[in-house]
Amino acid sequence: MNEIENITDFIKKTPKTELHLHIEGSLEPELMFKLSKRNKIEIPFNNIEEIKSAYSFTNLDSFLKIYYEGSNVLINEEDFFDLTWEYILKCKEDNIVHTEIFFDPQSHLPRGVSFETVINGIDKALKKAEKDFGISSKIIMCFLRHLDEESCFDVLKQACNHKDKIIGVGLDSSEKGNPPSKFKRLFEQAIKEGFLTVAHAGEEGPPEYIWDSLNLLKIKRIDHGVQCLNDKKLVEKLVKDQTPLTVCPLSNVKLCVFDKLENHNLKKLLNKGLRVVVNSDDPAYFGGYLNKNLIDTSKALNLGFEDIKKLIENSFKSSFLNEESKKDWLKKINS
Ligand code: ADE
Ligand code: ZN
Repeated sequence: MNEIENITDFIKKTPKTELHLHIEGSLEPELMFKLSKRNKIEIPFNNIEEIKSAYSFTNLDSFLKIYYEGSNVLINEEDFFDLTWEYILKCKEDNIVHTEIFFDPQSHLPRGVSFETVINGIDKALKKAEKDFGISSKIIMCFLRHLDEESCFDVLKQACNHKDKIIGVGLDSSEKGNPPSKFKRLFEQAIKEGFLTVAHAGEEGPPEYIWDSLNLLKIKRIDHGVQCLNDKKLVEKLVKDQTPLTVCPLSNVKLCVFDKLENHNLKKLLNKGLRVVVNSDDPAYFGGYLNKNLIDTSKALNLGFEDIKKLIENSFKSSFLNEESKKDWLKKINS
């Protein structure tokens, strides 16, 4: 085996966690088509090939439009179960032993789909994953930042009825023009209610959005965060605190944050000592699940074994697993 084959093999065989995955973004065209028929929901495509060829994006907003349209086929608890179960099968294939999943209730509630329908469908599939495959998980509810504070407070109230299932809250959707400061009061309330907090920041938006996510939203992890390199002081702080960055390389290329994978800044982030974790974000739209993100990135950036090992160790260290589970997994990886 040559070096690349060795690294690919190592990536495939090593247990991993995924910390940045939107469950609605794992809706494969085949399932979208099946659900559109099952639920009699019109989609603007005649076949699976047409869906796939629509997946060409120029920025985050051009993707979000298609992503929210795709979510319209999700109606019943069974649909959310099927969606989550398909992702779990990918986890099994990729040797993901723990996953922390985002969901976007505000993209379902206005269509008359209840909070309970969504959370129960996802939760049942995750419980089955634990029982059948020993795959553990956490659920994080994301607020859509293009919506107003009132709508977010409303969905937070609903999440409070499901604290047994939801560990934390996040912030996603259109970043530019929707700064973290818009959600300061919301996140204060969420923390009071006992939720952990994370936020998308510095995907397209400026380093100030990362600062504000840390200072105002008290986040435990930064989702993306790749724009941090434009601010030396910020990098120093992130290194000092070892704040995790859940980076999504294939997503960043698909959404034109970087023009090609070879120009992604992941290796630079690693070299600075930042706690980088690799994730798939919306794999059905961006062309690959976790292993493909790791394999393609390692080829494009010439990552070595130590880099890959670091990324995988970081994924466990940055998770919301308890300290004992983290220790156990880190020991297994090192043996
Ligand atoms: N929602 C789903 N994927 C997203 C991304 N990459 N950025 C912001 N919001 C999202
Ligand atoms: Zn994301």
